[in-house]
Amino acid sequence: MSIQQDNIRKLVERRSKARLGGGQKRIDAQHAKGKLTARERLSLLLDEGSFEEYDMFMHHRCTNFGMDASHPDGDGVVTGCGTISGRLVYVYAQDFTVSGGSLSKTMSEKICKVMDMAARNGAPCIGLNDSGGARIQEGIDSLAGYGEIFERNILYSGVVPQISGIFGPCAGGAVYSPALTDFTVMVKDTSYMFLTGPAVVKSVLGEDVSQEELGGARVHSSKSGVADFAAENEEDGIRIIRELLSYLPQNNAEEAPRTATADPLSRVDDLLNEIIPDNPNKPYDMYRVISGIVDDGVFFEIHKEFAKNIIVGFARMNGRSVGIVANQPGVLAGSLDINASRKGARFVRFCDAFNIPLVTLVDVPGFLPGTQQEYGAVITNGAKLLYAYGEATVPKVTVTLRKAYGGAHIVMSCKQLRGDINYAWPSAEIAVMGSAGAVNVLYAKDINAIEDPEAKEELRAGKKAEYEELFSNPYQAAQKGYIDDVIEPRNTRFRVIRALEELSGKKQELPAKKHDNLPL
Ligand code: HXC
Repeated sequence: MSIQQDNIRKLVERRSKARLGGGQKRIDAQHAKGKLTARERLSLLLDEGSFEEYDMFMHHRCTNFGMDASHPDGDGVVTGCGTISGRLVYVYAQDFTVSGGSLSKTMSEKICKVMDMAARNGAPCIGLNDSGGARIQEGIDSLAGYGEIFERNILYSGVVPQISGIFGPCAGGAVYSPALTDFTVMVKDTSYMFLTGPAVVKSVLGEDVSQEELGGARVHSSKSGVADFAAENEEDGIRIIRELLSYLPQNNAEEAPRTATADPLSRVDDLLNEIIPDNPNKPYDMYRVISGIVDDGVFFEIHKEFAKNIIVGFARMNGRSVGIVANQPGVLAGSLDINASRKGARFVRFCDAFNIPLVTLVDVPGFLPGTQQEYGAVITNGAKLLYAYGEATVPKVTVTLRKAYGGAHIVMSCKQLRGDINYAWPSAEIAVMGSAGAVNVLYAKDINAIEDPEAKEELRAGKKAEYEELFSNPYQAAQKGYIDDVIEPRNTRFRVIRALEELSGKKQELPAKKHDNLPL
């Protein structure tokens, strides 16, 4: 064997060893927990044969607590780039088999390198987290490593899409990297995120709580909103990430890929002409409206289990990726509350940052009243959604289906927030408030002055009818140009698509500023 061939043999051997991470025993332990290894995850995530690995031979440099006895090649993270459906992405996957995936300075250098490359080359960055947190033996160096990662999460926010998969533990300050990224996918039963674990909670607060109850996928996808998705298992989590990316552009200077569709752009949906119930207090299913207007009825929902009174997600219209925001009349009557406002605002800002047009479907009776909401700062939180719509410069097409009352009408992408095309269905009611509330305010004295209950009710009903005649329709708004057209519901798909085509060259600027001061 020549020297060169021997060198190649050594390289192959060394690569094979590095690919085993912390060794077969730890890989088996990982599998026994129902988890995949970092490399298995990457091979599912990336197109076959596309993975280009970097820094496979980097070592940690820690000498504390006997760490110099072992220097596994690559340390506790696998990094590089590859393609997903043929499009470039940068990736890192923490390897739990090496020191529990705990973050060393070396690991942070590897991660930061791919983050920098993602930003430089204009491609999304996906991090798969499975880690015991800061590598305890490295002390402050490990914390510094987290700081380096966080800074890049911040700098590249709005530059390239950043996606976090949580496929194991993610605790302490480590949770802040996913929290800074655009989307977080957790896996049910095998992943968790919390700042302080159950033991600390017990000692400080005396509360008994399991990891799953404190920071599992179900909790974060439904109660806190920290996670956008709760996947059934790791394969499902990977599928979600791949599908999500299909709706996104590579970076903030590009548009999302346009796909061919067999769904005719002029397809009418007769059911939409019958979907609004006669009783204004009766809900209907907003999902049915969405599926009736988007390509092939396919809707990729974000934050499905959180703040269900607002629906957000991606779809395609005539092959073009769009962000859908819709009130859900079936939950809290579609009213906006703190969580719905936060959820909507975050989604609108993501779409705006990445050139994804917004289609807003409105049926909102107002903001949810009550002390719980007021004490929780529904004012500040509601302002987030208002702000997000008002600053967004992507094409904004709005359709008001039924109620659009008061401040909530303004918030939901109205004309004055630079809505581009605002349609209404004939069932739209665009007013300061509903008829019952308005009559109670305007005619309280007159109604109270009447003693006879029947006469009282007669006056109330008469005034209500008068108010409804005036405001419970879209024509007041259309007469003033606040609504561009009143459309037949079954034609909504076609009208929205035509509006989006019209707006495809839209250019709109914000006044010069260092950055905004979004109400937080
Ligand atoms: C060094 C670590 C480690 C860590 C785990 N290991 N966490 N090594 N630093 N933070 C090692 C273990 O010693 C063990 O090594 C191997 O990883 C696997 O860990 P196990 O405990 O055997 O696994 P498991 O039973 O599955 O438990 C996983 C775990 C637990 C729940 C994550 O390891 C754990 O509680 N780790 C500590 C978590 C923590 O407190 N981290 C610091 C958080 S503060 P051997 O060689 O025995 O296999 C933080 C600050 C970040 O992260 C600040 C950012 C600003």
